[in-house]
Amino acid sequence: MTSECTCVAVFSDDPPKERPGGGLWKAAGFDGGAGQTLLAPGVSGPVLLVGMGGRQGATAASLRESAALAGRTLAHLHRLRWDFEGFAVVGLACGDAVQAIAEGVHLGAYKYDAGQDGPRASPWQHPGGELGPAWTRGEDIARVTNYVRDLVNEPANVLTPAQLAGRCRDAASDAGLDIRVLEEAELRSGRFGGVVAVGQGSVERPCLVELTHRGSGGRVDLCLVGKGVTFDSGGLSLKNSDGLMSMKQDMAGAAAVLGAMKLVGRLAPGLHVKAYLPLVENMPGPAAVKPGDVVTMRNGATVEILNTDFEGRLILADALALAAEENPRAIVDLATLTYAAVHALGERTAALLSNDHRLGEAIAGAAAESGEAVWPMPMPAYLEEQLRSTVADYSNFPGSATARTLTAGLFLKAFVPQGIPWAHLDIAGPAWAAAGYGVTPAGATGYGVRLLGALLAGLDAERASSSA
Ligand code: BES
Ligand code: ZN
Ligand code: ZN
Repeated sequence: MTSECTCVAVFSDDPPKERPGGGLWKAAGFDGGAGQTLLAPGVSGPVLLVGMGGRQGATAASLRESAALAGRTLAHLHRLRWDFEGFAVVGLACGDAVQAIAEGVHLGAYKYDAGQDGPRASPWQHPGGELGPAWTRGEDIARVTNYVRDLVNEPANVLTPAQLAGRCRDAASDAGLDIRVLEEAELRSGRFGGVVAVGQGSVERPCLVELTHRGSGGRVDLCLVGKGVTFDSGGLSLKNSDGLMSMKQDMAGAAAVLGAMKLVGRLAPGLHVKAYLPLVENMPGPAAVKPGDVVTMRNGATVEILNTDFEGRLILADALALAAEENPRAIVDLATLTYAAVHALGERTAALLSNDHRLGEAIAGAAAESGEAVWPMPMPAYLEEQLRSTVADYSNFPGSATARTLTAGLFLKAFVPQGIPWAHLDIAGPAWAAAGYGVTPAGATGYGVRLLGALLAGLDAERASSSA
């Protein structure tokens, strides 16, 4: 097929008889139900009928999923077009529906290609006109999500901390962000004891990337922090063979934050946003940090490192303390932090822990809007005793094997000064998919880009209305 293929949304509650050729669809087993497609000849080229389910019950999520199926079905074609003529959904703004479809077709077609050189041009014709901005927004978000999926799928021998810092430099120059990279010597002199300790067992040097979008200037509106362990062997507290196999994904938080920073200029131009990405490889080399070592963190607190596989909280704590020095209006971190989060919530939902109800609500709202699920978890004070050490201010190892997502949250909370709203998303579950579902392929999911995109856009709208 060389001609352009057109996609047409068909809702199951529209009578097919009123459409040309509609009588035949039923015979072919197509009635517009979600999950159905039918390729048919059209006057000016092939047409893919895409079942969307009921027009009444349609949501951004259901449109995104149906569109993803179309995107996957047609992924081998080079010229595609979505026909929005007569397109309307009950209970959803037209722009949101168009954005969901643009996201879906691009997310659904994703495939990790190790040999690929640079981003592919979209095969989808831009609709232009009134629908144009919504389509562009959806396409931008999906393209960045696919970029993040590529980063997380890349093997750890390719995507080292230095390589990932290089990608941050490229992204900064593409997106017009300021960038500062703290190299190991500066991390040492700056007392980033956690990042230095986790990085010292590897031949790959650690660093900390800081990205800034100044927006309208003034007080920093939001700091984003992402766990960037390019490979987590566990260090001297070495993981077993099964545990090691998936640990290239341990930088998914940093990748999602980098993705969000690539979008901030387009989705939230007025917002003053900073990102902090501590990048390390956690290895048991000769200089590795040893269980029982005590380090001094960026905020001056000391930590006894009893288990070197609880490394995420160490690098995040330094980055959170650095972010807090800006006195931002809010801090949000994303991290593949605990197995317990996967056990509790499964593969599709992130754990949400926060010291601030309003920020927690804003994140839950962004999750609902974007279709990337979160679920709130508590941080009960009685668990703080799990953080105690006899020789330092804190231990990184909670003695108890229960509630590890919560004790991880409590550890991080100790590095955010009171009065700064902060939220932590444990994305150990949704960062990676054993098998594909909906708009998500098997492997790296790009989780967090859509959620952060919705959060940024919402905060920018709030800022604009409060300064008006
Ligand atoms: N990187 C892991 C957590 C993780 C698990 C990420 C699954 C992605 C998918 C983290 O650093 C870790 O090792 N946490 C452990 C420590 C324990 C096994 C020693 C935990 O969650 O308890
Ligand atoms: Zn670990
Ligand atoms: Zn880890």
